[in-house]
Amino acid sequence: MPQTPRCSGFQNALEIMPAQGKCTVIVGCQWGDEGKGKIVDVLSEGVDIVARYQGGANAGHTVHVGESEFILHQIPSGVLHDGKRCLLGNGVVLDIRQFFDEYDALVKRGIDLTGRVGVSQRAQLLLPYHRMLDKAAEGAATTKIGTTGRGIGPAYEDKAGRRGVRVIDLGNPERLAKLVDSAKERVCRRLDQLGVGTGELDAAMEEAMNLGERLLSLSTDTGPEISAALRAGKRVLLEGAQGTALDLDHGTYPFVTSSNTTAAGAATGTGIGPTAIDSVVGVVKAYTTRVGEGPLPSAFEPEMDEHVRMLGGEFGATTGRPRRCGWFDSVLSRHAAQVNGLTGIAVTKLDVLDTLPELQVATAYRMPDGSVTDTFPADTWSLSSVEPVYETLPGWEAPTGHVRRLEDLPTNARAYLDRLEELTLAKVEWISVGTKRNQIIPVD
Ligand code: IMP
Ligand code: MG
Repeated sequence: MPQTPRCSGFQNALEIMPAQGKCTVIVGCQWGDEGKGKIVDVLSEGVDIVARYQGGANAGHTVHVGESEFILHQIPSGVLHDGKRCLLGNGVVLDIRQFFDEYDALVKRGIDLTGRVGVSQRAQLLLPYHRMLDKAAEGAATTKIGTTGRGIGPAYEDKAGRRGVRVIDLGNPERLAKLVDSAKERVCRRLDQLGVGTGELDAAMEEAMNLGERLLSLSTDTGPEISAALRAGKRVLLEGAQGTALDLDHGTYPFVTSSNTTAAGAATGTGIGPTAIDSVVGVVKAYTTRVGEGPLPSAFEPEMDEHVRMLGGEFGATTGRPRRCGWFDSVLSRHAAQVNGLTGIAVTKLDVLDTLPELQVATAYRMPDGSVTDTFPADTWSLSSVEPVYETLPGWEAPTGHVRRLEDLPTNARAYLDRLEELTLAKVEWISVGTKRNQIIPVD
């Protein structure tokens, strides 16, 4: 029986959620910017809770609703669906000032957030000095990471150094003052060493701390909240930020972010056990992009790089930096399938390739010593001098943005997707062919 569409003309997402899945992780499988925001937005229609499990305001998730564009940095991409509960887990480093800027901007645009946003009591606070340290450290570094400058590395350093300030500390003024005072002392010494002034720090700290009460009023214990929801038969999406190749352990270290972006991080980053997770959907762009420093083995030659960047609008959503572009790299996507335990993949931005007469896919790497490997090397430095082994596939040279059913895709586009699936060793479950919510093809 035909159902009334609940989501801008595309079928109810409940029907295309993995049938067995009550708790699904959405994880990036490249260097971030795979289009997770759009996939989470679309799938949020069929769930009750969406929770972010790591990262902070370094993320930039672009979501289109009708003619409007939203760029979300900390609040989960499920927020654009009425009534969905959106959580920031303990694995997040929460920039308190930026968080409320984002929150208030959403309310101003007509999104009702009453009772909908929750923040883990265990989440680390990202405070103004973390941003200052990030920028100063990048400025002084000989090996630059190309960070987003949002303070992510220093905030996670404080967490691992067991001197961070957590949301729960906001409720204890004495403890809070102690933690902040000793942090300020340490930070000022460090900034002084790096020759950076600390003039604006006090005012910025005061501004952040003034928001403490407001943040506390949103605090929750995300693990028990999510577990109770799952026990009650509800559906949960755990939203990753960045991507597998930026994971602190499994990415191209040291050119990575400072958290575990991969699927296992979804358990530690929200406070549920790994057995509570039913499925893991990896998001891959139909080609590859990277922003920031570090190797990109399947990078295009300059002319093609520029061409695809324009076709795909490949500029950072957080920093506006141009993203480097390259062919689909199945050495990386297989690595992602293995590390994340993918149960399926969502391929995004297929339409960006519509006009290309020929496509290449990296199937292996020729290493500097002449050997060929089809597994992702641990030696990041070798990645700058590997030569990808490419397979060439014919393009489809036809528009795909209007297609809503797999069988309506051009034959060569289907062959391309089949090959990505074979090489990645994971089943294609969704194909995104444009920025709009309804530009998505569910695959049975
Ligand atoms: P950080 O996370 O700001 O410390 O940056 C570390 C690396 O991760 C840099 O190469 C950034 O460009 C990259 N990065 C961080 N967040 C994102 C993201 O959301 N998308 C793409 N790249 C990111
Ligand atoms: Mg992004």
